[in-house]
Amino acid sequence: MSMKIPFFNYKQTKELEVQRVENTPDHIAIIMDGNGRWAQKRGLPRIAGHKEGVSAVNKVVKAAVNSNVKILTLYTFSTENWKRPKSEIDFILRLPKEFLHIYLPDLISNNVRIETIGDFDSLPSYTREAVQYAIDKTKDNDGLLLNFALNYGSRLEIVHAVKQIISDIDNSKLSIDALDDSQFSNYLFTNGLSDPDLLIRTGGEQRLSNFLLWQLAYTEFWFTDVLWPDFTEENFLSALEEYQQRKRRYGGI
Ligand code: IPE
Ligand code: IPE
Ligand code: MG
Repeated sequence: MSMKIPFFNYKQTKELEVQRVENTPDHIAIIMDGNGRWAQKRGLPRIAGHKEGVSAVNKVVKAAVNSNVKILTLYTFSTENWKRPKSEIDFILRLPKEFLHIYLPDLISNNVRIETIGDFDSLPSYTREAVQYAIDKTKDNDGLLLNFALNYGSRLEIVHAVKQIISDIDNSKLSIDALDDSQFSNYLFTNGLSDPDLLIRTGGEQRLSNFLLWQLAYTEFWFTDVLWPDFTEENFLSALEEYQQRKRRYGGI
C-alpha cells in the first residue's frame, strides 16, 4: 500500500508570498532545540517532540524557499547527542528517512538540493541510505541547498581538517605558506559554502553547543524561547526581519 503524499509547490502557496528584499540572508543556520521539553510539557515521551519537530522542518524549508534563502543548514544530530539513551538516538536517527519519505517529492519539485555535513559514515545504515538516496536524487537541483548537520560537531570538524592539512603538507599537496583562513575553510565539512549570515536557536538556550564554531565568526545570532515543534513560518520571518535591521561591520566602522 503506498502512502499518500502531499504534493504541492511551495512557491504557489499564497499565504506567505515573500519577495526577496534587500538584505535577505543567503545562508541561515538553525539549532532546532526544545523537542524534549515540548513533549514533557504535554506529558508525552521525549520522542513525541522529535516526531512533531519534523513538520516544523517542513514549514521552515517552505518559508526558506519562499524567501529565496540560498542555504539552510539544520542542526539535526550532534556528536554529543550520542550521550542520550539508545532508544531516543534510534528514534532521532530514523527521522530523516521518515521526513524524506513524506517530503522528498515536494523538495524535488521545488528544486531543493539536499546535502549533509558531519561524520556521515558513522551513522546507522538506515539513516545513510535514505539520506544518500535524497542527495543523489537532488544533486542537479539549483534552488535552496538544504544542508543537514547530521552527526556534526564543530571540534570534530576542526580536528579532522587539521589532520587532513598535515597529511596534505606531508604529501606536498599543500605548502605551509599557502595556508590561510580561506584555505583552512576548504578543509571543513562546509567547504564551498558561504558562512551563515544568520543563526537561529529555538528552545531558549543561548549557546552554540558545538555548532559551526569557525563559520559563525561574524554571523548574526537570533534566539527565541519558542520550542522547535512550535516554530512557525511567522517566527522564521520575524528572525529575517530582525536580521534586516542589523548593521554588520566585520570589524570595520
Ligand atoms: C533538539 O531537541 C533535538 C536534538 C537535539 C536532536 P532536544 O531533544 O534537545 O529537546 P530539549 O532541549 O531536551 O527540550
Ligand atoms: C543542540 O541541542 C543539538 C541539536 C539541536 C541537534 P542540544 O539539546 O543537544 O544542546 P545542549 O545539550 O542543550 O547544549
Ligand atoms: Mg536540547
